[in-house]
Amino acid sequence: MGNEIGNAAESPQTVRPRRLRATAAIRDMVRETRLAPDQFIYPLFVTEDRDRRNEVRSMPGVYQFSIDRLGQEAREISALGIPAVILFGIPARKDPAGSESYNENGVIQRAVREIKNMVPELVVITDVCLCEYTDHGHCGILNLPGSPDANPNLPEGYLLNDPTLSLLARIATSHARAGADMVAPSGMIDGMVAAIRRALDAEGYQMVPVMSYAVKYASAFYGPFRDAAEGAPKFGDRRTHQMDPANAREAIREADLDVKEGADFLMVKPALSYLDIVQRLRSAFPELPLAAYNVSGEYSMLKAAAANGWIDERQAALEVLTSIRRAGADLIITYHAKAAAQWLSGDI
Ligand code: PBG
Repeated sequence: MGNEIGNAAESPQTVRPRRLRATAAIRDMVRETRLAPDQFIYPLFVTEDRDRRNEVRSMPGVYQFSIDRLGQEAREISALGIPAVILFGIPARKDPAGSESYNENGVIQRAVREIKNMVPELVVITDVCLCEYTDHGHCGILNLPGSPDANPNLPEGYLLNDPTLSLLARIATSHARAGADMVAPSGMIDGMVAAIRRALDAEGYQMVPVMSYAVKYASAFYGPFRDAAEGAPKFGDRRTHQMDPANAREAIREADLDVKEGADFLMVKPALSYLDIVQRLRSAFPELPLAAYNVSGEYSMLKAAAANGWIDERQAALEVLTSIRRAGADLIITYHAKAAAQWLSGDI
């Protein structure tokens, strides 16, 4: 037709994206999203038993560790190039106000001291919430008739916001005193970041950052975690404080409030059904580090499919982690951190 030369640049036959996919070396060169162990944070579940390493039934490959077994695990994590862990405690004793959560010799306080003592370079982040410490399994003080904080204008059993804030502040400062490098409030209680920031500063912990679970949805994907952390609510659910999965604009409002309250990090949780939220936060708050929590249910689904031979675990897990980074997360909290670090280094 006479346009072979003149319109060569526009001819569909000359535009061949496959050229840059032809070899592994070229694909590596043009890869837009990189995955590396220093982007991972590994969750650890800690119990008050001795010499225990219990596999969590619904999370193959994930264990509850007794404090005396944490040093060895922390050394392994650090040797893999993973910079940080986030700790969840399973206390021996629970009560309505979750008082073990701020015990100076509580499970997390001792676990933090143990890890910082054994592997000082590992960044220790603590989850700050009450659900594992209350006998009812809710994330704070409930509105119960006859209790000192009872409010007749609110429904019975409602999670009371402001009385819970003072407990969260107490927990965070006790974690800082134990040596935590960073605290991560996860309850979606209004004002939690401000309350914790104020309390930390008042005790001289101006340098302890707050990683806020700023945008946390009321998700079915936390199921296996509640097995692992033994913190399932005995009745009801968390929909009066965690976000409605249907909402996206509200995520910006939540994150904005936390930034104004002094959050140093933002987090979106869960990750996979909420990659659009990760992307929105990335562009709305370009200056803040952003983490995404690849939660227990996301891990367990993949493990279950792999155990049945329905999916290749390594490829699927690396694809999932890459997608979370591609959406805009700087850091990923993931139960796959150790395995992924090994896969990425070519060890297994
Ligand atoms: C609350 C908390 C939860 C998770 C992390 N922190 C459970 C919940 O909100 O019910 C879930 C993490 C996961 O599913 O992996 N302390």
